[in-house]
Amino acid sequence: MARVHGAACAAPTVDQGDSVTTNSLYGRDVVSIGDLSLAEIKYILDVTAQLKAAKTTPPALTNKLIAHCFFEPSTRTRLSFEAATLRLNGKVIGFSSDDSTSIKKGETLQDTIRVISDYADLIVIRHPKEGAARLAADLSTKPVINAGDGANQHPTQTLLDLFTIHECQQKLDGLAIALVGDLKYGRTAHSFAKICKLFDIRLFLVAPDALTMPDYLCDDLKKQGVRFSFHQSIEEVISKVDIIYMTRIQQERFSSVAHQFNKAHYNLTAEHLINVRPNLRILHPLPRVDEIDVAIDKTPHAYYFEQAANGVFVRQALLALALNKELSLS
Ligand code: CP
Repeated sequence: MARVHGAACAAPTVDQGDSVTTNSLYGRDVVSIGDLSLAEIKYILDVTAQLKAAKTTPPALTNKLIAHCFFEPSTRTRLSFEAATLRLNGKVIGFSSDDSTSIKKGETLQDTIRVISDYADLIVIRHPKEGAARLAADLSTKPVINAGDGANQHPTQTLLDLFTIHECQQKLDGLAIALVGDLKYGRTAHSFAKICKLFDIRLFLVAPDALTMPDYLCDDLKKQGVRFSFHQSIEEVISKVDIIYMTRIQQERFSSVAHQFNKAHYNLTAEHLINVRPNLRILHPLPRVDEIDVAIDKTPHAYYFEQAANGVFVRQALLALALNKELSLS
């Protein structure tokens, strides 16, 4: 369950016509996308849209210090959180690897987080171990946002994915979406699968047998009545979908032998795009390795760089809402 740090949780109010909005995300952890209700997700996406459309960025993090604790490599998530913080007039402390921290002297994650939570107003954490963000949230005296924990969850990626899908399709309901690649270890696919029950999304799961979506997530999809099917090839699904969401083989999560075996599986090329829906958009959380041929970048179907750019606005919205009981966007 989501915890509230420092203050009672206000009732969610989604008042599109009012520039000052009371919000239920104030003081909240975001560890799993499942911590958020549909109303809260829509609220975050609405605030994101307002921030993206605004000519000037509100100084919503004035006098706030955000700790960015990255125990695992990142380009987009860390730098977009930093950009979001600085653009909202906040300040940043943190690290991009535990090499320079006292973890290397044997300090526990528990003690590390407990101490940092007294230095900062909010902690953003990425960690290679599943459950590390939940542990951090339980120990921290300040809100914690999960920036990716092992093969488990990447909730802020899912929020930016939803924002991007809405931006390029003008809707979130009634879409056919293919998740392609490493669905076993890919945390972006895991988080995305968890929100399909909230929207009328038909899922096509494209993965080799060795990297298929874990049973616990498929069972959840079944229980929630999400329509989904398993496939081995991109060719089977590409003409039927509005979004094809490519993912990288998570080589850091298994042996190099297994990586060599799985590496060549999915390479989206321009030839795949001959008989597709005109509105098809290709997404990828990035980094890409060889899943999408660079020749696709110039086609109208490519939308992954726009997706990455949206990360700043979504993270601005999340930080602003977590640290402002009443958020003024004017
Ligand atoms: N999408 C994503 O999480 O990218 P990074 O690993 O570069 O943060």
